[in-house]
Amino acid sequence: MERILRSFVVFEGLDGAGTTTQIRNLARYYEFNRREYYLTAEPTDNPIGQLVRKVLQKKVATTPEALALLYAADRHDHIYSESHGILRMSEEGKIVISDRYFYSSIAYQSVECDPAFVMAINNFPLPEVIIFIDTPVDVCMERIEKRGGEKELFDRVSFLTKVRDNYIRAFSSLPDGVRLITIDGAMSPEDVERAIRSELSSFSL
Ligand code: TYD
Repeated sequence: MERILRSFVVFEGLDGAGTTTQIRNLARYYEFNRREYYLTAEPTDNPIGQLVRKVLQKKVATTPEALALLYAADRHDHIYSESHGILRMSEEGKIVISDRYFYSSIAYQSVECDPAFVMAINNFPLPEVIIFIDTPVDVCMERIEKRGGEKELFDRVSFLTKVRDNYIRAFSSLPDGVRLITIDGAMSPEDVERAIRSELSSFSL
């Protein structure tokens, strides 16, 4: 059986789903309650993650498969690096919260790459909890448009619809021991926050 990292919570959702806001709120809540936590995100700020961002911003061109490999390489470093890897923190009992994990690769990269290839390069330890903020594509699009600025490669309706389908498919067959919390992202941010807290507290997280 695949390895499950205890107290490892990952947030997943479409662009504009609200994961970043909700993670920030959760961190504030843990701070208030003096819980030991570590907040992180993918793509990371490390060199491989920075290269990924350059591809998303179209400053560097590559193939979809090479991008999938870059995400996976960034993730390997994110988990296993001696200096900054999250494996040790999770083993020490800290609550590790990541804004995206390999489910993002399964959902996004499988649109353009062979899903079997994406699965094969993403054989990573499993999180204990997945919080899937399921926000309708049109709501995500509105938020993306409001944010303005340069749109990244993936900000497109048909693309996001496929990504959502891939998420739903991936989450329909999770291994035992991985808990999925699906939150209706169309609710107000306050209600989403409340729902996340109440679900996590039932796992003592
Ligand atoms: P993210 O940082 O969450 O978006 P934002 O910059 O808007 O906060 O992620 C950047 C993009 O990368 C986003 O469109 C999702 C995509 N992505 C993948 O396609 N595969 C992956 O494995 C990950 C981690 C992200």
